[in-house]
Amino acid sequence: KGIPVLAVNYKAYPTAFGETGLAIALTAEKLAEEYDGIIRFILAVPATEIVRISESTDKALVYAQHADPVEPGAHTGYLPLEALKEAGAKGTLLNHSEHRIRLSDIDTIVRRATQLGLETLVCADTPTAAAAAAILSPTMIAVEPPELIGTGVPVSKAKPEVITSTIQLVRMVNPDVPILAGAGITTGEDAATAIKLGANGVLVASAVMKAKDPEAKLLELAEALAKAAEKKS
Ligand code: G3P
Repeated sequence: KGIPVLAVNYKAYPTAFGETGLAIALTAEKLAEEYDGIIRFILAVPATEIVRISESTDKALVYAQHADPVEPGAHTGYLPLEALKEAGAKGTLLNHSEHRIRLSDIDTIVRRATQLGLETLVCADTPTAAAAAAILSPTMIAVEPPELIGTGVPVSKAKPEVITSTIQLVRMVNPDVPILAGAGITTGEDAATAIKLGANGVLVASAVMKAKDPEAKLLELAEALAKAAEKKS
């Protein structure tokens, strides 16, 4: 459980690539240094950006957005965990609603990632799917109702019961895995509400990637998470 997590999924937004993607990462890195031991920053960047962004970050952990259940070999276009690690990733998102994979593949990838020393953040669209994923012992779980993703309508306000039932169900099978809430989280208040409901952090995308000022948005989210976590302890 520990310190709250602020995970930013770059997706394939135009800002995710090249200089703008790197600039967002540098901002996150600066905040990760300031909030060292207070907030854990994760940046799930496009595969093409892993090398560039991981070379310029340290405290902000670089994740891939997906990995394939294959070992290095004759697999054209696939992303083996070994390749992500070699590129500098510290972990990977798995089973995002925009990139779903089967449970048996999540199982294989989580096991292999653990052997390789890579973290895994498994996404689920419902509390029951989150519990199914939690039994595989990933590093973290995120629950995101797909219908709220990218809408700016925060799960923590529109569907708080999704967060609370996820916590309840996941804790039955895995007492320790951090549980993140995502979909529509836009303001510091949305993030703080998720923490109040019992989440261990948030997974955000458009709020940061489409922000006029991503630095200000990251700061707003970080401050709110830190305050909410402090109040709880
Ligand atoms: O992975 C995070 C994402 O699916 C949530 O998207 O844009 O609603 O923050 P967004």
